[in-house]
Amino acid sequence: MEQYKLFINGEFVDSASGKTFESLDPGTELPIAQVAQAGKADAEAAIAAAREAFNSGVWSGLTPAARMAKVQDFADQVSQQALRLAATECMDSGQILKLAGFAPLLGMGLLRNLALTAATKFPWHEEIPVSGNAFAPGREYIRREPIGVCVGIIPWNFPMTMAFWKLGPALIMGNCIVLKPATVTPLSALILAEAAKAAGIPDGVVNVIAGPGGELGQVLCTHPDVDKVAFTGSTEVGREIMRMASATVKKVTLELGGKSANIILDDADMDLAVEGACFGTFFHQGQICESGTRVLVSSKIYDQFLDKMKKRAEALRVGYQMDPTSHMGPLVSKEQLATVERYVKIGKEEGAELITGGKRVEVPGIKGGYYYAPTIFANVNNKMRIAQEEIFGPVVCVIKYDSDEEAVAIANDSIYGLGGGVFSSNTARAERVAAGVRTGSMWINNYHIFADFCPFGGYKQSGVGRELGVAGLHEYTLIKRVHVSAMADARSNMTFQLLSDYKKVDGFGYNCPTNVIAGHGCLPAISRAVTDLGCKRALILTDPGVRQAGLAQLAKDALAGFCVGIYDKIPADPDLESVDAATAVARELKADCIVSVGGGSVIDTAKAVCVTLKSGGKANDHLNFLVLTEPQTPHIAIPTTSGTGSEVTNVSVLTSKNAGRKLFIVDAKIMPNVAILDPRFTMTLPQSLTVTTAMDAMTHAIEAMTSTMSNPICDGMALQAIRMINKNLPLVVADGKNEKARLNMQIAATMAGWAFTVAQVGLAHGMAHTVGALHHVPHGAACGIVLPKVMRYNVDHAAEKLALVAHALDVAGANMTERDAAMAAADAIEALMKKTGHPMRLRDVGVPEENLAICAFHAITDTALIFNARGVSDPNDVLEVYKQAY
Ligand SMILES: NC(=O)c1ccc[n+]([C@@H]2O[C@H](COP(=O)([O-])OP(=O)(O)OC[C@H]3O[C@@H](n4cnc5c(N)ncnc54)[C@H](O)[C@@H]3O)[C@@H](O)[C@H]2O)c1
Repeated sequence: MEQYKLFINGEFVDSASGKTFESLDPGTELPIAQVAQAGKADAEAAIAAAREAFNSGVWSGLTPAARMAKVQDFADQVSQQALRLAATECMDSGQILKLAGFAPLLGMGLLRNLALTAATKFPWHEEIPVSGNAFAPGREYIRREPIGVCVGIIPWNFPMTMAFWKLGPALIMGNCIVLKPATVTPLSALILAEAAKAAGIPDGVVNVIAGPGGELGQVLCTHPDVDKVAFTGSTEVGREIMRMASATVKKVTLELGGKSANIILDDADMDLAVEGACFGTFFHQGQICESGTRVLVSSKIYDQFLDKMKKRAEALRVGYQMDPTSHMGPLVSKEQLATVERYVKIGKEEGAELITGGKRVEVPGIKGGYYYAPTIFANVNNKMRIAQEEIFGPVVCVIKYDSDEEAVAIANDSIYGLGGGVFSSNTARAERVAAGVRTGSMWINNYHIFADFCPFGGYKQSGVGRELGVAGLHEYTLIKRVHVSAMADARSNMTFQLLSDYKKVDGFGYNCPTNVIAGHGCLPAISRAVTDLGCKRALILTDPGVRQAGLAQLAKDALAGFCVGIYDKIPADPDLESVDAATAVARELKADCIVSVGGGSVIDTAKAVCVTLKSGGKANDHLNFLVLTEPQTPHIAIPTTSGTGSEVTNVSVLTSKNAGRKLFIVDAKIMPNVAILDPRFTMTLPQSLTVTTAMDAMTHAIEAMTSTMSNPICDGMALQAIRMINKNLPLVVADGKNEKARLNMQIAATMAGWAFTVAQVGLAHGMAHTVGALHHVPHGAACGIVLPKVMRYNVDHAAEKLALVAHALDVAGANMTERDAAMAAADAIEALMKKTGHPMRLRDVGVPEENLAICAFHAITDTALIFNARGVSDPNDVLEVYKQAY
């Protein structure tokens, strides 16, 4: 009789206790090998060897390509042992020779396929192009790393295949493993250990120990040095393994029991379905977890189907597994035979109709052996125990149903969800049924089909995790996320400020890619801009007021043959639907470029249209911060107000009716490619709008300066914008046709836009967004009204910056303190507003006093407030400022 030893740390050794046990041939009940019986000490030795090997990096530290080379050697050594493996597996497990004969070949294929995938395609390292956290700039990536010491505990039905399934992925992904085969079928796993040693896989990387499941399982699943347990077996044991592994929070993958439904639809090819039902349940004596042990048959074909299935089952030859003519061999053990007999008795008692089988089979010339006839129960009710409990033998329940829906409901009425089949001549119908079944695998017009790249695993109590395929490889890795901060100094770190009194952020990124073309009569530059962008079909977006003023036509004429249309239905303060409507037109006209002619409303709509055109879907899908990774549809902006600076900013402000507020797309990728500042486009702007939009620009400049994100570049632009607005706004108000002053206002608005897009804004904007969304106060007017009040609110936190503003406004007296100068700046803003006829109070622009508190509650969560110089976290503070502005 052959002797087998344990394989620990690269050596074949006796067990510490010296104990051995015999492995029997289930077809003859005769012993075929004597095997060293591992106990607690051996399990601990195997774990220690695996731990040491893992920690040493001798395997985990190799590149995936280097590991692949070793795994290929392993596959070659399996090939050298193929015949011995097949014959031993056949005798040890009762698998018919036709089946066991293929196992080494399939295992070699799996090793090679998955090793190549791991070496060439697996995402070991992934850069994350956008982090989703706007406050922590830097590089983000993930590494996938081996888990460590893995335990594989495998069952007796497919001992060799299961050993490949556990050894292969664990090794390929850089782990070390302790493999424990089932007590009744230990031999093939121990031969694979020989192959691993012959292949030169380093000592300790692979360990195989045979012995009693309970005793060894207790050690393997609780030992703190084990990182993962991969188990295939019954749901009952799986629960226990999960419980044991929980104490040290091991990763677990469990591939457990099943009671899968094989659904025969009324349009199935009858012969194919009968073959599928028999193969699905009698193959390997029904000892397969995902067997289709509940055959659900349409009432329309039930009688005919049952008749044929019975005949087919009775034609199956049960015989010794090494006899090449046998279709079915013995059950694996005396215990399994007893289980099958017990369930057949239960089925009869439950009232199911036994139409064939239900008895042991004697094989001529052999004394003993655990042979059992293919057994069919008809008229089974799905509530019966034989339909709910896993039998793991050649016993099938046939269940009648009336409709596809009922079949799906019966299939799903189970604690399990591992496999299943549908037989139908209509693929679409079969796929609908397959989609409805809550299970891990469905085969259509086939059964028991596995493939190296197709994941296998269970729903419900059939398991956790997946084996095979890339999904299976992932189960043998852990994800490590690495953040490399772009701001490696406490003064530049925005998040650390939550714990500090210092609000200012010193670090900044300046990313303003818009090409600005400005000057009297610069509009003709547009046709060159279109061709530079590689575009041919420009759609003009505008609003009715701007079109009426003749400005869209001006742009159309300059675009000449590149213009495919004008869409002029954009409302003031656009909402998401406005964007979707404009996008629909752009899609219809196959526009490859958007030209926005208008104020912030039009330009912001156009930015969002460019995103939906490029990225698909609706505007609502894109209300995100910093998620775009590639350029959007090209956009040329021609501002017709001198307020928003939107032509150069990274934000699109859109009202969401659902959210009840203005929401944003924020992304450098939405900045227009080109901005054309031609004063002819603002000459027609009525005085009131000239003033309110100018105050929008003024607010951008002042809030950018006082923002916690302010920086010298933005300060420079903001101060110049403040000077230019202060000087030119009165000139424009005095004479709307003063082209020079108009141009200066446009340039100032653009500079203010640049300043705030880099530095952000603050409380005034949060408050203006709110009254804009809730009470339709034009953005510029709202900004102007609240700005001086917010400056005073911030005075002790931004005195130095506000004093600079006072200088730019020409109101900083020589002997003034910074604080006094800051207060003077606020006064000067109010004076400028009065002088130019800007509305002074919220009551004048339609905000009801009783709603101020609601506005304060909305405003407090506006993202602009994050950057306000003085912290704002109490709605009462905001309410107070609203009241002052009222
Ligand atoms: N994206 C950004 O950076 C940013 C910044 C601030 C504000 N915004 C948003 O911009 C919008 C406000 O934009 P806006 O203030 O420019 O006003 P607007 O675009 O809403 O235009 C206001 C009105 O002025 C008319 N108009 C514009 N130009 C004209 C002209 N030259 N002649 C005659 N009529 C003209 C329009 O027809 C419209 O009726 C708000 O929705 C606001 O939230 C965006």
